[in-house]
Amino acid sequence: MSLLLEFFGRLHPMLLHLPIGMLCALGIYEFRAWRKGDPPAPRFWVSLAAACAAFAAGSGWQLHQEPGYVENFALEWHERLGIATGLSAILCAMLYNNVTRYRKVLLLSVATMLGAGHYGGTMTHGEDFIFEPLLRLAANNESQPPASVVSYERDIAPVFKAKCSKCHSASKQKGGLRLDAPEWILKGGKNDGAAVNVGHPDGHPILERILLDLEDEDHMPPEGKRQLTLEETDLIAEWLQLGAPFGPPLAAADAAAVQRLRDNLVHVQTISTESNKLYVDFAATATDINNQIVTELLMPIKDNIVELSLARAVQIDDGIMPLIAQMPRLEILSLVGTSITAASEVALKEIATVHLFDTAIQSEQPSDALATEILAEGEIKLTNSECPVTGEMIDPKYTIVYQGEEIQFCCPNCPKTFWEDPEKYLGAK
Ligand code: HEC
Repeated sequence: MSLLLEFFGRLHPMLLHLPIGMLCALGIYEFRAWRKGDPPAPRFWVSLAAACAAFAAGSGWQLHQEPGYVENFALEWHERLGIATGLSAILCAMLYNNVTRYRKVLLLSVATMLGAGHYGGTMTHGEDFIFEPLLRLAANNESQPPASVVSYERDIAPVFKAKCSKCHSASKQKGGLRLDAPEWILKGGKNDGAAVNVGHPDGHPILERILLDLEDEDHMPPEGKRQLTLEETDLIAEWLQLGAPFGPPLAAADAAAVQRLRDNLVHVQTISTESNKLYVDFAATATDINNQIVTELLMPIKDNIVELSLARAVQIDDGIMPLIAQMPRLEILSLVGTSITAASEVALKEIATVHLFDTAIQSEQPSDALATEILAEGEIKLTNSECPVTGEMIDPKYTIVYQGEEIQFCCPNCPKTFWEDPEKYLGAK
């Protein structure tokens, strides 16, 4: 007998399709009949559907008696809803004479069956089996832009070659401009100067000309010549938006190196969501760091740094310059309050913005007006009037930036204490 039961249980994967088809068909039939005021489906079909549902549920329950099933959420709910489907289908057949009740219970039966089917599918095929291809599609679409960051070599140079080189290359230099190599593009032409504004998202003469009306005599390529396609224009615009990088796209900074910085209480963040450029600030440990520590920490991510603050790190001196010189993208550097001397002045001219207050190069402190201006620019506001750690008077010398807000302390030790558990001290500010 038990072998027969076992056989019955194993019929489950086959039997279960019968009530699915029949209950769905009945549901559709009854919905239509209810709308049109027709009589219900013949009793025979209702009874057959109920019998099939009962057999499917029974066989499933029997199958579960076999050893080897891992109890989990999906199995549990598949079984519960399956049994509910079987029972409600039998109830349908019993209530057949009362059309309204029969149809209501049928609705319940179909609903529980859909649930049972869903969890059954999860058991056999895994979660998200059906939607997985769509999820993958969505994920692909999202990850496409970073994967295809415009590259000068791959995307831009061929366009210039095809559409501009006739008049802007070795053979001809209309307007004094060559567009066949980075150095010529940077050198630029007679009127516009450099054809691109490297490192900036806008202000590119080349794009201004491309976007001019076709009739405009400054429009490029000139009217009557082969024009750029929409895609080519978009590519060029996208490339210029990135600051016209000529090298390969900047790779993300080494995650382990970034983590090491964070472990050392150094603030690191990307400057925008779609860029791998980094802002690094040593405020929390400024008094402890020296040239060697900073060099070791930053060397692995030097290519990614565009903004660096070593402010108030008194042990930092001219010995930091070899590291600074190796940061090709560094644009903003704060050496406020460091021991840097005039010996580094020439090298620092390479960097767009350098803050040197309170150093041997620039001895005066920033005036109050200037300080507030800097704050306004960076949208950083001072949040506290007394030291959040001790409650003592604050000293502007000991300032850190935490979550876009400037916090000042009474002594050089408090920032360290603060960084160990910022939330704790923020309550006290
Ligand atoms: C059929 C010839 C021709 C083609 C093709 C052409 N240009 Fe020009 N371009 C000119 C002439 C002529 C000038 C100079 C007149 C002027 O300054 O308006 C010029 C000037 C320029 C200048 C200004 C240079 C300066 O500083 O004075 C830029 C930028 C420029 N072209 C970009 C392009 C780009 C980008 C393409 C390709 C998409 C292109 N041109 C294709 C003929 C051409």
